[in-house]
Amino acid sequence: MTMSTRTLGSTGPQVSALGLGCMGMSALYGGADRAESIATIHAALEAGVTLIDTGDFYGMGHNELLIGEALRTAPAARREQARVSVKFGALRGPDGGWSGYDGRPAAVKNFAAYSLQRLGVDHIDVYRPARLDTDVPIEETVGAIAELIEKGYVRHVGLSEVGAGTIRRAAAVAPVADLQIEYSLISRGIEESVLPVTRELGISVTAYGVLSRGLISGHFSADRQLAADDFRAHSPRFQDENLRHNLNLVEALRKIAEQKGVSVAQIAIAWVLSRGEDIVPLVGARTRERLAESLGALDVTLDAADLVAIEEAVPAGAAAGERYAAAQLAQVER
Ligand SMILES: NC(=O)c1ccc[n+]([C@@H]2O[C@H](COP(=O)([O-])OP(=O)(O)OC[C@H]3O[C@@H](n4cnc5c(N)ncnc54)[C@H](OP(=O)(O)O)[C@@H]3O)[C@@H](O)[C@H]2O)c1
Repeated sequence: MTMSTRTLGSTGPQVSALGLGCMGMSALYGGADRAESIATIHAALEAGVTLIDTGDFYGMGHNELLIGEALRTAPAARREQARVSVKFGALRGPDGGWSGYDGRPAAVKNFAAYSLQRLGVDHIDVYRPARLDTDVPIEETVGAIAELIEKGYVRHVGLSEVGAGTIRRAAAVAPVADLQIEYSLISRGIEESVLPVTRELGISVTAYGVLSRGLISGHFSADRQLAADDFRAHSPRFQDENLRHNLNLVEALRKIAEQKGVSVAQIAIAWVLSRGEDIVPLVGARTRERLAESLGALDVTLDAADLVAIEEAVPAGAAAGERYAAAQLAQVER
């Protein structure tokens, strides 16, 4: 199989059209199997996936150590093709609690030093603040990444969950490869004011939550028991009436998927892929089975009639509930 590729921004790296997001292998979606996680990363690399996404705070370093091990034990040719994208800045406590964001230049360099060690690499391909630190001008945070680039520790600047004004300010300091932000059939918020700006400035979008954290994967059901530390146990879209409403949207999508002989997850991923060459979906597969399903989306072609049917099944704004609980929503720029 030849993997199709997309370029991150006008100055960024060429990466596989589908990236692997590794967060769920360490945190937020309930327990994951370590050996299966590593096997999934290996299978992704073997299939030609080159974009691997993480955050230093996913499991407080656990995710980077996991990726480091997977890279170390992968065939050299695959390891060399991997482009690792790292988010930094989120502050955690020993109990796993969250206590804000730090985008000060000295902190950025400190975070990078630890990430390089945990990943076991000599550079990070794309380095990005996970959220805007509202106490630090974005110019200073991006300036620190630019210094790391100058010294060879980082290759490209990325951003995450920031709005149009911050994107412009950041891009005025250094070229930005991509903005990582939630984008899916049921989270289309970026279409109005963010996508026009990234397109104007030649910045790509690495879309996360393409399956809305499993909600629109076709595998989620209302009777699924979630642990208290599972993100979804507190996400408005997964609560009671909202969940029932949202799963009805999935059933409408399932009819289209069945007619095309593909799965719901494949339709949802293919829809994001169809939004433009500047968009690279990050899928959160943490097993080889889910990965294989996700990769199948690359072979799904949505024609005009399919897109109309999908729009009718899941019109923009159709989801019930916000994509984050109020406290987390306050940390994403809109
Ligand atoms: N920048 C940011 O603020 C931000 C925020 C969140 C995530 N991210 C990044 O984006 C990546 C993807 O986000 P996400 O994990 O929320 O995305 P997602 O792909 O929408 O959700 C992943 C979840 O969907 C379920 N799923 C069901 N079928 C699947 C399939 N065929 N393929 C993959 N997953 C399937 C899995 O749950 P089960 O394993 O339980 O089936 C998995 O845990 C993360 O790993 C992280 O790197 C970035």
